[in-house]
Amino acid sequence: MIQHVAIIMDGNGRWATQRGLSRSEGHRAGAKQISVVADAARKLGIKYLTIYAFSTENWKRPEAEVSALMGLIVEFASSELPKMMENNVRLRTIGRTADLPLASRTALLNAIEKTKDNDGFTINVALSYGGRAEIVDAVNKILRERKSKKPVTEAEFRDYLYLPDMPDPDLMIRTGGNLRISNFLLWQLSYAELYVTPVFWPDFGEDDLKAALASFEGRERRFGGLNAENSGDAARQ
Ligand code: IPE
Ligand code: IPE
Ligand code: MG
Repeated sequence: MIQHVAIIMDGNGRWATQRGLSRSEGHRAGAKQISVVADAARKLGIKYLTIYAFSTENWKRPEAEVSALMGLIVEFASSELPKMMENNVRLRTIGRTADLPLASRTALLNAIEKTKDNDGFTINVALSYGGRAEIVDAVNKILRERKSKKPVTEAEFRDYLYLPDMPDPDLMIRTGGNLRISNFLLWQLSYAELYVTPVFWPDFGEDDLKAALASFEGRERRFGGLNAENSGDAARQ
């Protein structure tokens, strides 16, 4: 059963350009789509949704675009809060969120605090997030906090990641058609199934999510082992 879906919400800029709109308008349309897709995921029985909203590399973008995105975070956190409360949804963030402007941090912290006991569905928003930054942050936390000099195991390393209690994503969806990871969840995606669609994020809806889930259902996850048929053969040999 699929528990955790991660999404690289890409293509807002191209969606806007195709319509003669500014990139920031694309981001606005993209931000609205988050609640549509989160509602659909929740109703389909998924428990965790991790969405890539702003990467550590996205700080390189023009100041006007970055500030439009930071403004959208404030709007998203405050406008979605009543719905998240009503639907038993918990909001969390991953990333170097201390880098965000104060208004964005305040709105997020308020929503995180108010929704912290909701347990029906969890949305993790990746903000100023980089997979490498997360690994380096974990290493530095180990150097600061860990007393033992014993070698670190994989299971223990996980405890130092941003959300250690989160199961790894089963499925990673990327919209906008690019076949790359762009520094998303490098540790956690090690055995995720990947699904890339050319659909731009503002156009990605319930049917597109269902198509991604149908693709996932048809796959065999082997985690480095053998498939059911061959493992039977191996047992007989
Ligand atoms: C994704 O859309 C949103 C962010 C990276 C913030 P883009 O802005 O990257 O859209 P494209 O890839 O240029 O179309
Ligand atoms: C990935 O998209 C980051 C987010 C969706 C937040 P980008 O548009 O930044 O990725 P690249 O630059 O095409 O790899
Ligand atoms: Mg992009």
